[in-house]
Amino acid sequence: TRPLIALGIETSCDDTCAAIVTSDRQILSEVLRTQHHLHEPMGGIVPKLAHHAHMRNLPEVVKEAIQKAGLGERGIQEIDIIAVTRGPGLAHCLGVGLNAAKTLAAALNKPLIGVHHMEAHALTARLTTRDPATDQDQASSDIVPIGSDPYPSFPFLTLLVSGGHTLLLVAHSVDRYTTLATTVDDSIGEAIDKTARELDIPWLPGRAGGPGASLEEFAKGSQDPTRYLDRLPIPMSLRNNKWEMKFSFAGVKSAATRIVNQEKSTSPTGEMDEEKKKDLAAGFQNCAVAHLCQKVEQGLMDCRKQGLEISSLVISGGVGRNATLRSKIEEVCNQFDSRAMKASKPAGRRASAATEGTSAATEVPRQPVQVICPPPKLCTDNAVMIAWTGLERYQQGLVDPYDIDIAPKWPL
Ligand code: KG4
Ligand code: ZN
Repeated sequence: TRPLIALGIETSCDDTCAAIVTSDRQILSEVLRTQHHLHEPMGGIVPKLAHHAHMRNLPEVVKEAIQKAGLGERGIQEIDIIAVTRGPGLAHCLGVGLNAAKTLAAALNKPLIGVHHMEAHALTARLTTRDPATDQDQASSDIVPIGSDPYPSFPFLTLLVSGGHTLLLVAHSVDRYTTLATTVDDSIGEAIDKTARELDIPWLPGRAGGPGASLEEFAKGSQDPTRYLDRLPIPMSLRNNKWEMKFSFAGVKSAATRIVNQEKSTSPTGEMDEEKKKDLAAGFQNCAVAHLCQKVEQGLMDCRKQGLEISSLVISGGVGRNATLRSKIEEVCNQFDSRAMKASKPAGRRASAATEGTSAATEVPRQPVQVICPPPKLCTDNAVMIAWTGLERYQQGLVDPYDIDIAPKWPL
């Protein structure tokens, strides 16, 4: 039997995307039209502009994805399923993608799969790594960006950090997720971008990652990252709010802005000293990373209490490119033993599972919770992840009727 082929469509925010992906992890085509140039001068995404741009661009984007995929002689009929983002996202934007997908699916008489955008972010790492159960004899493909990362088997954690999301969740199965923490105010990306602007950090031409990447580079020049330590408190710290599983970035963003304004007002030139800017950039970055790390650690502790054998943590989203973030999260995950997490289930339940033994933690070799970082291109919004999630859902028998509606506010 040949692998399944999925067309994925994503229009939840400001990128118009279509992609064709197979169940044996081949990305046959991938087309993305960004609207960055439209929204940038407006200082943020304007839903109406985004809606019109999706309407204008989606047909060509889909056409190009189909042409580039090199489908067999039956052309578009070779596609087995059509997957599309239903939500969450901007209502009108979602509508453009969903209507196109519904019409295509109905006309071609193919199954339609409505996909949750966050679930798709979470499942991406299952496309970009090898599943030991099914990928045994698959030679490494030159199309698929298979990395050396281990395969995230369920349950695993996902830390989604971008301009749009700040989310820590448990993926229990293809269809079941629980949110451990989300932001109560700004996303981490918003806070980073605002701070980078306040600091007037030089733009790094030709480098992907935008203001965050520039801030990271700039912070490397800091001589004293602790200069503003006491004025950049870690938000919702574990010490004070032990169980408060929430992210908050508005406070640290404002704190950084206050420091900039104060330094400017006391400087003879009216400008903040370059050295101090670098120290603030580094201090801000460390604070934001520490905040994330505390919640990840707390999340892993909570999972352990529930006896969840967390195999790995997937870092996704633009901010996940940050090297400091990755290494600090790795330190946290290293402290947790994936197998011992299961072994440390509450005593009553363990006693009833006779085969499990009580000394599993000491007999089984240590297996730290692995950190997995999918390729940056697949961590930002894209249709590859939608097509892949469609395939995962379809293989579980999860198909939707042609009259499904958008779900702009779709809880996990
Ligand atoms: O996922 P993403 O590319 O796009 C959207 O959210 O739409 O995330 C973009 C965010 C921006 O805030 C950007 O400044 C940040 O990711 N970012 C970084 C780095 N590279 C990108 N933040 C910190 N360090 C980086 N190296
Ligand atoms: Zn996204």
